[in-house]
Parts: sequence; C-alpha cells; structure tokens
Amino acid sequence: MPESIVTLEDFLAVGKQDHLKDAHELTHVLIQLSLAAKVISNSVRKASLSDILGASGNTNVHGEQVQKLDEYADTVIVEMLSKGGSVCGIASEESEELISIPKHYETGPYVICIDPLDGSSNIDVNISVGTIFSIRKKRSEGRDAQLTDVLRPGAEQCAAGYVHYGPSTMFVFTSGSGVNGFTLDPSIDEFVLSHPDLKMPSPGTNVYSVNEAYMRKWTAGQQKLVHQFHGGQDGSDSFSSRYVGSMVADFHRTILRGGIFMYPGTRDNPKGKLRLLYEVAPLGFVCEQAGGLASDGKQPVRNIHPEDLHQRIPVFLGSPHLIKLAEQYLARN
Ligand code: AHG
Ligand code: MN
Ligand code: MN
Repeated sequence: MPESIVTLEDFLAVGKQDHLKDAHELTHVLIQLSLAAKVISNSVRKASLSDILGASGNTNVHGEQVQKLDEYADTVIVEMLSKGGSVCGIASEESEELISIPKHYETGPYVICIDPLDGSSNIDVNISVGTIFSIRKKRSEGRDAQLTDVLRPGAEQCAAGYVHYGPSTMFVFTSGSGVNGFTLDPSIDEFVLSHPDLKMPSPGTNVYSVNEAYMRKWTAGQQKLVHQFHGGQDGSDSFSSRYVGSMVADFHRTILRGGIFMYPGTRDNPKGKLRLLYEVAPLGFVCEQAGGLASDGKQPVRNIHPEDLHQRIPVFLGSPHLIKLAEQYLARN
C-alpha cells in the first residue's frame, strides 16, 4: 500500500491526536462505528436491488413512519457496539428508551447517541443519507449507562461525527482536536484519510440552507433573515440556496464550503424538528471543531442541558459571521 495512504485504523492506532493514544476504548468505538458504516454503506448502495427500501410499517417515538433502512441501520450499529465491549448504553432515534447492553456482553466506559439513518425521506429517491453519532463517557456507577450519563451538555462529548452516504461514503469525526474526514475506498474496503484537519473556509461561500416551505410559520426575525439572504432591500449579499433534506448532506456541504444550515422553530412549534442528542449536539461539536459556530438561535448548542432523550431544538450551524447574523435577526423578533 503506497506510503501516502492513511487508513482510519492507522490514524487511530498511531494516535495522530495525542489524547487518543491511551483512549484505546474510544478508538475501539470509532473503529466499530466505521465497520457498521461499511455494512450500512453496502446496503445503501444496492438498496433498489434488495428488499430494503420503503416503509417498515412501524412508527417511532416521534410518530414518524420508520423506513426499513432506518431499522436495518439501527440493528447493525446497536449489534456492532453491543458486542464490542467498550460501550455501556446506546440512545438511538429508533428507540424510545436508553438501550442497555445484553448481559452476556462485556461493557465499557462509553455511552453512544445515534441517528442510525439520517434523511430517511431521501432513501427511496436515491439522494444522500447519513448516520450521526455522539460519544460520551459514563459518569454513573454500575454496569449500565443511566439517563444521567446522556442528558448532559454537548460540551462533554468525547467524540462525535457522521457518515455521509453520498457519491462516495465518508466517515468524518472529531475527538476534540480538529476534524478529519475519511473516504471509503471500495477497492480496498478501507476508510482512507482524504480531508485531514478539515476547516470551514472563511468567509466561505454565501449559501443558506433551510426548508422555505415553512416560511409563513417562522417568526418575523427568521423571515427577515432569509429575506436578507434573498438580497434584502438593497439587493446586496445575495446568496444561493441549497437544501438536500438530509441534515448530514446539508451539513457536510456547509463545513466544506461555508454558509449556514438552519432548521428554525415555527410559531406553533418553536423547538423545530431536529433532535439535540443525536443530530444537533454531535454535528455542532464537529462544526465548532471545523471553525464554525453551532447555535440554537440564542446560545451555543454545546451549553444546552438536554431534558429528555428525544428533545428537539432549533439549529443554526455554519460560518461564524452568518450564525451571528442569524442570532441578531432572531433577537429582534
Ligand atoms: P431523520 O431521517 O433522521 O428523521 O432526519 C431527517 C431530518 C434531517 O435529516 C433533515 O435536515 C430534516 O429532517 C428535513 O426535514 P424537512 O423535510 O421538514 O425539511
Ligand atoms: Mn436525522
Ligand atoms: Mn434518522
């Protein structure tokens, strides 16, 4: 294998980020997640050729139609982490309660929050989807993780990241010393370092990303902000709009190019749609480590203390100057 290739295993093994050197359990969890990502990627890539598309017929805790691939991805990740011996509990979008590790498995010091398959509505139309993960250290006593281990501010995450099942499959993570992106090379079935020390460009491109169909329901401040992006009164600062409808895809473009991704609240649903523990906090951690800001429209997401596993919050992720602009407009409501 040419000298230049650095696989995820190499990267983690040689402790490219010093603090990972002794945290072998943390690197083990990341390897397990990357293995699950390969398995899910294989299924995503041939979804239309197998019976894995469409709805499973079940609804989740949010009352949403669960897709077969949601359940499949959830099963793959939970089984992979459960037998890995480094995890003592899992909070999943697809499970109302905290998942404990079966008694016949060893457990370890980490608690994982996952969105197994992000962008479910895009699966059947072959548009990019993702997986999102957040890793925290257990603080409670005893074998199994408790709710108190996960209902903690995002600032306490040890690591976080996502898998982007796009034209290529990418594994992007941070463990607190910057962000590194790995692209799956199908010829060797390895995640290879392709985006070392990933940083959001500054000022970056003027791209805003939001579902404008909800505009009438937004607050006045949110409406004025997007109107400004449309070119405002003086037509200055005109932006382009991009919205995939998979948070991972919209976020990945934002950290590579700059811009702002928003999922604001509405007047009748001020908390919006996206979940703090397994969507907003992990991507917020990656965003800040890549030089961006992550806000709920008023404060940094990392400071927010979750009240329940599936708590929703408004989210603004991206270039610092645009996040600050959003907070200014929202404050004027
Ligand atoms: P999930 O498939 O895990 O439920 O996530 C879907 C989320 C997120 O990926 C995306 O940004 C958002 O839903 C899109 O929502 P709208 O269709 O309301 O724009
Ligand atoms: Mn999601
Ligand atoms: Mn999901």
